[in-house]
Amino acid sequence: MKLIVATHNPGKLQEFRRILDLGGIDVEGLASDAPMPEEVGTSLEENALIKARGAFEIYREAIVADDSGLFVDSLGGQPGVLSARYAGPGATDGENRSKLLSEMALVAGENRRAEFRCVLCVVGVESHSTPEFYVGVVKGRITELPMGDAGFGYDPIFVPDGSDGRTFAQMSPQEKNAISHRARALEVMLGEISKWS
Ligand code: IMP
Repeated sequence: MKLIVATHNPGKLQEFRRILDLGGIDVEGLASDAPMPEEVGTSLEENALIKARGAFEIYREAIVADDSGLFVDSLGGQPGVLSARYAGPGATDGENRSKLLSEMALVAGENRRAEFRCVLCVVGVESHSTPEFYVGVVKGRITELPMGDAGFGYDPIFVPDGSDGRTFAQMSPQEKNAISHRARALEVMLGEISKWS
């Protein structure tokens, strides 16, 4: 089986390939000039579907698309689907982190629970006429201050459960990839699609 990943991000493509290789699934990225639709959905599911359908319109082949976000308990699930632009359109990762930390300035340690969620959407597989969704979650807490330089996004302020206190940004890519929301969603997806004919 072959899947086209609806992304222009080489790091993401590598992460998909690392896991889907184990199931003998060939993975390809989008051509660099392939347009990506705007993420106008109000949920991760909607955005993953929008991206998957957008790529299917071009390739007419089996596609997988993902959408992820950080959901903070004390903020009612914010920034959620707006994680990439929490501090406004075009915001940098640093601006988004600063906004989150300031919104949480009065939230005590034990109430700083949060989780990363990833939703994958597969469309265009001949034997499956409706879109299929797979979810991966990693739970943890938001730190008071950023720690570490690795990774991206909210990694410097997220300590996953089970960590020795290090944020995602203080872990090697291998350590993060072993427990990330994306890896978990990919493992769930692989478990299901490897049963498909
Ligand atoms: P995307 O859907 O994977 O592009 O993620 C949307 C936004 O969620 C990113 O721009 C980040 O702000 C945040 N995010 C998603 N996954 C991660 C992660 O693994 N670490 C840190 N931030 C993430």
